[in-house]
Formats: sequence, structure tokens, C-alpha cells
Amino acid sequence: MRECHDELARWMEPLGTRARIDDAGNFRAVYPAAQPNAPHLLIGSHLDTVPNAGAYDGMLGVVLAVALLDELQGRRLPFAIEVVGFSEEEGVRFGTPFIGSRALVGRLDRHLLGIHDAQGISVQKAIEEFGLNPEKIPQAALHSQTLAYFEFHIEQGPALENLNLPLAAVEAIAGQSRLELLFLGRGNHAGTTPMHLRSDAIAGAAEWIVAVEQMAHSVPGLVATVGKIDAKPGAPNVIAREAQLTLDVRHSSDEIRTRAVGELIRQAQEIAARRGLSVRDSILLDQRAVAMDSFLINEIEQAIAKAGCKPHRMVSGAGHDAMILAEKVPSAMIFLRTPGGISHDPAESVALDDVEKAIACGLHLLDQLASSREFIQRITRA
Ligand code: GLV
Ligand code: MN
Ligand code: MN
Repeated sequence: MRECHDELARWMEPLGTRARIDDAGNFRAVYPAAQPNAPHLLIGSHLDTVPNAGAYDGMLGVVLAVALLDELQGRRLPFAIEVVGFSEEEGVRFGTPFIGSRALVGRLDRHLLGIHDAQGISVQKAIEEFGLNPEKIPQAALHSQTLAYFEFHIEQGPALENLNLPLAAVEAIAGQSRLELLFLGRGNHAGTTPMHLRSDAIAGAAEWIVAVEQMAHSVPGLVATVGKIDAKPGAPNVIAREAQLTLDVRHSSDEIRTRAVGELIRQAQEIAARRGLSVRDSILLDQRAVAMDSFLINEIEQAIAKAGCKPHRMVSGAGHDAMILAEKVPSAMIFLRTPGGISHDPAESVALDDVEKAIACGLHLLDQLASSREFIQRITRA
């Protein structure tokens, strides 16, 4: 991450922009406005990724922000443009996503600083080990006059490819729940323990994983994933004493999502009771679905059309920092078509033509906002 920050900072320098790393580990760099003390427009995405990842999820949005500044060729606008590269969006290490962006809206609190990774290292300690000061996280808050947040991101699904469209405006981001479940049984010898005398934590977890999949198949629009399983003691000839699982549930309706989570917890308890196991659950994330700003969606659609593409609106199934920023500032996203709809995998890719169209769209968008009466009024109000 440090090398990534250094590389980005080197790219920003010729643009007259000094970068800093805030105390939540986010990359921040401000391209000045035509006038001093002007409000900020924030453009960015995240710099972290998943294990065995592709190269574009997150990173492309930050690189596109730098490319847009480059294309301005020194031209100053009525607002400063702050490029942000968020530090921890995926939630892989601590199970909880959006840690970097939460610092900007004042939600990287004591509770979040206290959660631990698999090695028992807290968020607070990880921040300190990176050479940052958790006490100064409040200084990572959004500039007091931030007009809007924009994020370019690959779609990470097949919709745009199927429609043969390069770009889309995101109208809303589906809500998501993340949980950890721990099935507890009795460790014992795999050769001597008769089947009817076992309390096998892995077998109980396996039954529940299939129940998760069945529920997601039976509820339109619901997706549910057990993406990680860790069993102990973890030997071929020992019945598992415990099985720890992650659960990720998403839907554009918060009501359907939370009902599904409640029902899956109930099913885990029923399976555990029937098998002589116990089960504990902890909710790591309950993030509601978030609508993007309607004024900005309209502006994006106009910019997409000016870039020579057909405008399209869609809901994002993936989570994004824009969900968090939207709590405090008008936020919007532009999706780029994802070949094969493949993401969170090394096969993730993007077409160069589509990236060029995204840059053209971004430049039109900046020009539109710089001359939009409504946006200028926001500047006046800010
Ligand atoms: C982020 O990639 C997510 O899990 O949606
Ligand atoms: Mn991702
Ligand atoms: Mn992402």
C-alpha cells in the first residue's frame, strides 16, 4: 500500500498537487480551484483489494481521477478537485468494509478501531503499525465545503456487456449484511466415534451453507454467500470441534435483506439444535441500500450522451465507498462495462475504448458542473 501511495503521489506532482495520507490511511490530494478557499469536489475509489484479485476493482476509479486532472491540462475550475484513494473498502482483513471512507464521515469510531483481524491485531494497532495516529482520525473528515463525491468503478457484473453499453449511471447501491457464525460441536476421534454419537461442527455448517444457497435461490433478487470457512482443529482424522463461517447477504430492499438474515440465523439455530451443536452469530455489517443523488445522476447521463454513448441507469449489487459518502454529501457513480462480468478474480478486465469514453464523460461532467447554475448555487450555499 505504501508503494501504491508513493506511485500515485509521483503521478500527482506534475499536476501541481501534493498528496498526503490521512490518519485512516486514505490517499488524499487536492487540485486547486481557480480561486482560493473554493469548495471541494471529491473524486476517487478504493486502493485495497481482495485476495487473488483483479487489477481494476477500486484502483481504476483512482487512476481515472488522476487521468481527469491530467486532461484538464492545468485548467482551473470554480471548485477544487480532491482525489481520494480509500484505504480499506473490501473488509477482507477485519471482516468489516468501508473503514477508510467511514473516517471521512466521522464514523471510524472506538468500536470499529477495536475490531480484530485473524491474528488478533486491532484496526487501531494496524493503523499505528502503518505509522499513522488514530487520535488524528477526526482530521481525516471531509473538507467542510465538499460539494459532491464521484466514483468511477467497473460494473463487476454482466449487465452492461449484455446491453452492449460501455457506461452507466448508478441510481442506487444494494444494501448488505455481513455476519460471522460459529458452530460449536465436540471434537473426537474420526475412527472410533460412531456416527450417531457425533456432534460434528463441519457437518452442521455444511447443512446450513446449503440452506443459505437455497434461500437465495428462492427469493428474487437476493444473493447470499458463505465465502470463508475455518474449521478446528482441522485434521483429517479429527471430528471438527468448531466451524467458523462468514455470511454476506445483499438485496436492493432492506426489508427483504434483513428478513432473510433473521431467517438464516433461525435456520442455523434449528440445524445446530437438531445436531447437538450450539451456534453463535455476530453481525459485522448492516448497511442499508443507498440512493445516489438525482441531480448528479441526470448530469452523468448528459455527460455519457456527450461522450457518444447511450445513457443507462442501474442498481449496483456490489458495495462501494459512495454508500458511506452519501450520508454526508451528494454522491454518484459511473460504471464501466466489465468484460465477461468477471470481478474479484485475476480475469477481471476492462476495455481501453471504454476507459477513453469514461474519461471523456468525466471531462464533460466537470465542464457541466462548472457552468451549472444549480451546482454553482450549491457552491454559494457551501
Ligand atoms: C466490494 O467489492 C463488495 O463486496 O461489494
Ligand atoms: Mn471489490
Ligand atoms: Mn470496489
